[in-house]
Amino acid sequence: MDFDRIIDRRGTNCAKWDAMEKLYGVSPADGISMWVADTDFQVPDFVLQAGKDMLEHGVLGYQGIFDDYHNAICWWMQNRHGWTVKPEQVFSTYGLVNAVALNLQAFTDPGDGIILFTPVYHAFAKIIKAGGRQVVEMPMRQEAGQYYMDFPAYDGMLTGTEKMVILCSPHNPGGRVWTQAELAEVAAFCERHDLLLVSDEIHHDLVFGDNKHLPMPLAVPGVENRLITLTAPSKTFNIAGNHLGNVIISDPVLHAKFDKVMKGLGIATTVMGTEMTTAAYSPEGAAWVDQLVAYLDRNRKTFDAGINAIPGLKSMDLQSTYLAWVDFSGTGMAESEFTKRVAEVAKIAANYGSTFGTGGESFMRFNLGCPHSVVEDAVARLQKAFGDLQ
Ligand SMILES: Cc1ncc(COP(=O)(O)O)c(C=O)c1O
Repeated sequence: MDFDRIIDRRGTNCAKWDAMEKLYGVSPADGISMWVADTDFQVPDFVLQAGKDMLEHGVLGYQGIFDDYHNAICWWMQNRHGWTVKPEQVFSTYGLVNAVALNLQAFTDPGDGIILFTPVYHAFAKIIKAGGRQVVEMPMRQEAGQYYMDFPAYDGMLTGTEKMVILCSPHNPGGRVWTQAELAEVAAFCERHDLLLVSDEIHHDLVFGDNKHLPMPLAVPGVENRLITLTAPSKTFNIAGNHLGNVIISDPVLHAKFDKVMKGLGIATTVMGTEMTTAAYSPEGAAWVDQLVAYLDRNRKTFDAGINAIPGLKSMDLQSTYLAWVDFSGTGMAESEFTKRVAEVAKIAANYGSTFGTGGESFMRFNLGCPHSVVEDAVARLQKAFGDLQ
């Protein structure tokens, strides 16, 4: 697979490149887009072929048989994650933001508190608020350059309105791959306070080095009576535009409640989504992901070395995800100043850390899912933009 190939996405109505000027004031003509979390890599040939086969067949009607699709999902979870999933446990939603919204609807009421360990993926807070629920932030602490959850502190922060925890596992941003002991602590916290647990594992395939992602049902089997696990092929295979995610529920009571909401809203699958997922979740897909992870690992090492050489900047050592998380606090600059330099001097569109909630204020997030030459260009631009600090 040629991950080095530059694919010009401009003019395809994509969010990343075509909306960067509107959102970040960075022109796609000479800027680099490193914000929204999709990659600039081509979808693997065998996945594209599955879509092309459908188009060439020429009829894109309603789907009625999902055996191949469900078997592929179960194969992937078993073979890549050692997790036995049964086809009947899997629901397909319009992606995982949609899955979170459906979970809020199925299991909580307006006004309920939803716990987030911040900083965390910004769309969680957006969808919680849009659905009339309350965000209850529980900030993570940093230790030796990594994030940790702090349950003794969290125990004292509950207000009594909380019904659900949304865990990001692996964590976006910062890339923590939670250990079995940490996942057990999350589960125990949910038990202690009678909270449902939604575990968003969308980044589960993109894990570096010796870190090992543990699906929540595998890490803590006893929590399954309050657990909803979310996975998707979208980040892994760069098919987020298909809007297809999996909600996996083994508990029969939770399953029935979720099923009711799915049916009530008429949520169905998309042809491109299921056909491409079926092709992706295969031995060929597994081999491709191994190459992708090795490529991303090199990207993050190049990026971190270049960024950490700039006095005042610190890039977190990612255990997972292609989303570099850079702390600018050592520069002493206000958010308005370092974000301005990144956009106006380096001409890079990157996410503002403050949008990820408490604890993100001094950070920016840079998407490294791009050719290595683009990472090198971004490093050079940032070194120049913050050159006066050298
Ligand atoms: C943790 C997490 N969940 C969900 C999503 C988005 O999922 P979807 O595109 O399926 O709505 C993202 C995208 O960045 C993410 O990081």
